[in-house]
Amino acid sequence: YDREDGKPFSQRLLVVANRLPVSAIRKGEESWSLEISAGGLVSALLGVKDFEARWIGWAGVNVPDEIGQNALTKALAEKRCIPVFLDEEIVHQYYNGYCNNILWPLFHYLGLPQEDRLATTRGFQSQFQAYKKANEMFAAVVNKHYEDGDVVWCHDYHLMFLPQCLKNYNSKMKVGWFLHTPFPSSEIHRTLPSRSELLHAVLAADLVGFHTYDYARHFVSACTRILGLEGTPEGVENQGKLTRVAAFPIGIDSERFIRALDLPDVKKHIKDLQERFKGRKVMLGVDRLDMIKGIPQKILAFEKFLEENDSWREKVVLLQIAVPTRTDVPEYQKLTSQVHEIVGRINGRFGTLNTVPIHHLDRSLDFHALCALYAVTDVALVTSLRDGMNLVSYEFVACQDKKKGVLILSEFAGAAQSLGAGAILVNPWNITDVADAIKKALNMPSAEREKRHKHNFHHVTTHTAQEWAETFVSELNDTIVEAQLRTKQ
Ligand code: G6P
Repeated sequence: YDREDGKPFSQRLLVVANRLPVSAIRKGEESWSLEISAGGLVSALLGVKDFEARWIGWAGVNVPDEIGQNALTKALAEKRCIPVFLDEEIVHQYYNGYCNNILWPLFHYLGLPQEDRLATTRGFQSQFQAYKKANEMFAAVVNKHYEDGDVVWCHDYHLMFLPQCLKNYNSKMKVGWFLHTPFPSSEIHRTLPSRSELLHAVLAADLVGFHTYDYARHFVSACTRILGLEGTPEGVENQGKLTRVAAFPIGIDSERFIRALDLPDVKKHIKDLQERFKGRKVMLGVDRLDMIKGIPQKILAFEKFLEENDSWREKVVLLQIAVPTRTDVPEYQKLTSQVHEIVGRINGRFGTLNTVPIHHLDRSLDFHALCALYAVTDVALVTSLRDGMNLVSYEFVACQDKKKGVLILSEFAGAAQSLGAGAILVNPWNITDVADAIKKALNMPSAEREKRHKHNFHHVTTHTAQEWAETFVSELNDTIVEAQLRTKQ
């Protein structure tokens, strides 16, 4: 992470997220093996110009003993990562409970779990307390490592309390908060029993960012309608303090995908896939196995398409990569069985002795295999019921400069606002609409495919993750000055 020109970094950036970008596996009492996830977010955050980045977060493992904690802390320090240790009970109540069973579905318009609709239930209260406690634990670690002049960037719905906790330690800390999910309409947010506390805590930040203008607008409306504060074109004002609120649409490290397509290993994967699916059009879905991704609805739409277009039945295959996630949360377990049941039924119905229409995998693919799959795909199906942005759609476009395949994209994904002109937009709840889009995509003339792809490729290669991170951080640096000036006026 050193600067290429050898000059010293002028500032430090402390990135705080629920998860560190590593998977840590314990090999012995004092030994750990670490695998860094080389995703776009990591390279974007670590590559922000002039900033030396450090990452603070949970390592995703339970380490109850001090010896193990010290050894892991030491190993992570080499990767400029700093762990926050959370015990099993906190993880259960904070991560599985409040984050993934309450905030995640609510922010994606799936509502609150029935039994928690009343704030009085013990489940809700204790999960909320654990959420606050976990945020305080993150804040304590940030505070311990903070040095004057550092910029602190908090990420996502797991850490909505963090800006407030950090400002309680030191009101001069420059604190930004970015939400990677949608922020829902204020009418949805107001159903949350802890709605006001969370908004106030976020407003303690100097800069609050969202993927789209709509999410930013929803947040400002929630602050005006629920808290009675004043919204301005720049953000929200509270007792003379302005919290800047703005949209910063994320992107990907498109070069990394484009370069990968020239690697011999990826070329070999491409050749194998082309042989394997010769004579058939390839349709692809790549999603975490999450209810917001609309996987059952997508598969049912594919079934409807097969039902209505018998001439396509042996000429098309749907490859669905469903990466398991949050497997301790019951809703996710139910979804897995539901998807398996639907896939089994459809393959039984339309399969032959030679082939089945759906290949469903419950696992992730390595980067090279994934790039190859994107490159051979004719039609990608990104049909999330709601999605903050959805970067699978960007990754697909980055790998399609040769093939110029079609992207079918949910109008409820943030990406619809950037890739909408090149994609076929659908309402994922309307299975007929999606089935028609599949037909249109498979029959689309090459001139139209080229035109649509050109638009999307230009966007994906010019609005990168690096640019996103740099814009946010430089605005955060300026915002504090602006905010202080305003307070003085
Ligand atoms: C979404 C969230 C991220 C989260 C990721 C994976 O993209 O916005 O914050 O890390 O899902 O979920 P997990 O629960 O496995 O961290």
